[in-house]
Amino acid sequence: MRISLLSLAATAFALPAQDVLEPRATGSLDSWLAAESPVALQGILANIGANGAKVAGAKSGIVVASPSKSNPDYFYTWTRDAALTIKCLVDQFLSGGAASLEETIEEYINSQAFLQGVSNPSGSLCSGGLGEPKFNVDETQFTGAWGRPQRDGPALRATAMIAYSRYLISKGQNSTVANIIWPIISNDLSYVTENWNQTGFDLWEEVNSSSFFTTASQYRALVEGSALAAQIGKNCTNCDSQAPQVLCFLQSYWTGSYVLSNTGGGRSGKDANSILASIHLFDQSVGCNANTYQPCSDKALANHKVVTDSFRSIYSINSGIAQGTGVAVGRYPEDSYQGGNPWYLNTAAAAEQLYDAVYQWKKAGSITITSTSLPFFKDVYSSAAAGTYASSSSTFTSIVNAVTKYADSYMAVVEKYAPQNGSLAEQFSRSNGGPLSAADLTWSYAAFLTALNARKAAMPAAWGASSAKVPGSCSATSATGPCSTATATLPVSSGTTGPTKTPTTTATTTSGGSCSPTPTAINVLFKETATTTYGENVFIVGSISQLGNWDTNSAIALSAANYTSTNNVWFVTVNNLPVGTTFQYKYIRKESDGSIRWESDPNRSYTVPASCNGATETDTWR
Ligand SMILES: *[C@@H]1O[C@H](CO)[C@@H](O)[C@H](O)[C@H]1NC(C)=O
Ligand SMILES: *[C@@H]1O[C@H](CO)[C@@H](O)[C@H](O)[C@H]1NC(C)=O
Ligand SMILES: *[C@@H]1O[C@H](CO)[C@@H](O)[C@H](O)[C@H]1NC(C)=O
Ligand SMILES: *[C@@H]1O[C@H](CO)[C@@H](O)[C@H](O)[C@H]1NC(C)=O
Ligand SMILES: *[C@@H]1O[C@H](CO)[C@@H](O)[C@H](O)[C@H]1NC(C)=O
Ligand SMILES: *[C@@H]1O[C@H](CO)[C@@H](O)[C@H](O)[C@H]1NC(C)=O
Ligand SMILES: *[C@@H]1O[C@H](CO)[C@@H](O)[C@H](O)[C@H]1NC(C)=O
Repeated sequence: MRISLLSLAATAFALPAQDVLEPRATGSLDSWLAAESPVALQGILANIGANGAKVAGAKSGIVVASPSKSNPDYFYTWTRDAALTIKCLVDQFLSGGAASLEETIEEYINSQAFLQGVSNPSGSLCSGGLGEPKFNVDETQFTGAWGRPQRDGPALRATAMIAYSRYLISKGQNSTVANIIWPIISNDLSYVTENWNQTGFDLWEEVNSSSFFTTASQYRALVEGSALAAQIGKNCTNCDSQAPQVLCFLQSYWTGSYVLSNTGGGRSGKDANSILASIHLFDQSVGCNANTYQPCSDKALANHKVVTDSFRSIYSINSGIAQGTGVAVGRYPEDSYQGGNPWYLNTAAAAEQLYDAVYQWKKAGSITITSTSLPFFKDVYSSAAAGTYASSSSTFTSIVNAVTKYADSYMAVVEKYAPQNGSLAEQFSRSNGGPLSAADLTWSYAAFLTALNARKAAMPAAWGASSAKVPGSCSATSATGPCSTATATLPVSSGTTGPTKTPTTTATTTSGGSCSPTPTAINVLFKETATTTYGENVFIVGSISQLGNWDTNSAIALSAANYTSTNNVWFVTVNNLPVGTTFQYKYIRKESDGSIRWESDPNRSYTVPASCNGATETDTWR
């Protein structure tokens, strides 16, 4: 990633050596993960325009790769990174995350409708321009030399928008999807059906050939694009004609023992590219199908071992770590960019594949070991032998426990080399583990969160991998589909209307103090000034169901999105509180070790006013 070929040689090894990290005084991995989770989410939001704290100048909905403007300069929006990040936010939103995430998702979609129309060195909307890898954060074209085109971007963007579209359809908002989002998705799908059988630069922007991650992302987009079309009275007949051929081509990357990630480049082909592809193709509704390299498939597990093993001997921070215990994972062993170090996002991805696999085995109720996957299993369970083990067997239990532990050990590597404040850069030093290269890499945070969700078995929606049928023979094909400017934009919700977006009895926002009819329920913004330390989070809990009935497990999390060193404010909007209700509440802090600190007595009391514009309650920790 991230480097124009022209400047690669000049910047490799350019960074100063880092100090050895101080040992962290921590409790369990669980407590670190719980503390890092809000840090990662805020890390993402701080890098998205227009309000992101670290990316002044970025337009609304623009996801910036990193705030770093020099050595390396990542102050751009990459179509790939942005799409993977928004897919992560959609999955966070759908698995119980803050309602306000929806606003970010909507702004992203609107920004992409605009960016599709920005002509650039790869072409214009209907002549290849969608393959442009990156844009300036003010939504203008980037005209410098770069590894272009990159053909995974449109596919990944379609997948992110489809994930949100499925949610809208589940809320009955078919016409929003059909009229506003589908035209954007359709352009991206047409780019894929036309160009999937052409070479382009890989996700690391270095090799111009065919690339496993790119082909995998294209297959998924075509399958779910066609399914979405059918739900909204549209079609993607080219998706239907091309997808089987893309799947056929996907099989050709298998070497017999691992995935050859790029057909060009003259390398071993062992590359985290393939692990990222496997977790991208994860589908909770299928078993261990190898044709889509499901995380639990024998091919993907064999590949996991080969790729992660390729980093065991080359990084000194991995030395002495036994087989079957997680290591720091880089991009590919031949890497020399910025010194060729491990990446946080690849290490988290190695964990995620294993969490996904455990989920699939539990769901299937059995584990099958083949001669292909046997070496992987032997690393974690030395007496492993080929065969199928039902969930009632002790072998099944032992393997599930061992692989879960193995997955955690990769997350523990991320923990070990994350700085005290939880910020995640792009890389960490192969020799001492200190953070390196771009600071606050958006993708690092997204990769952490998707791995954490997988660990919690909060799995993303199925996408249709069950339909995968590999044709008897492969052919080189292409199909030119519809392409036109997507003009409509989504109305952006206020961020306080909750996930349903249905204006029910909630007060309408008028500028005056009167409204008709008088509201029966309003949204109340709670602001609490509380000086917190890293790992501490503020919640509100109270005597009504909307505030968890005093149950701290059901307390509502406040956001630190606007917290600064001079303004220690946490906030949350609680929706649809019935006018006239009086309730008691308090703020609490959840510490990184899971313990809870209450505000001092007495309980606070609040009566919901009949205010047309909602209400704000401002408090200070006591
Ligand atoms: C195009 O597809 C054919 C058939 O799968 C394959 O042999 C060929 O390598 C592909 N070329 C590219 C550039 O994708
Ligand atoms: C990469 O390959 C594509 C063919 O798919 C070609 O059009 C493009 O010019 C190549 N880019 C570079 C920088 O060589
Ligand atoms: C929206 O689509 C869903 C799923 O296809 C369908 O069940 C529902 O009837 C549609 N609603 C409308 C208003 O068209
Ligand atoms: C697909 O949609 C296009 C555009 O709406 C329409 O012209 C075409 O007839 C449809 N094809 C099929 C097979 O339904
Ligand atoms: C977090 O720590 C890293 C590494 O020590 C440092 O570079 C970064 O500036 C810190 N970030 C903040 C927001 O303090
Ligand atoms: C948080 O900051 C954003 C951007 O400055 C602002 O629009 C919003 O109103 C703030 N929210 C609160 C609750 O202060
Ligand atoms: C606050 O409310 C809780 C729950 O009803 C109650 O147990 C507690 O005694 C109250 N505290 C005070 C100081 O009244």
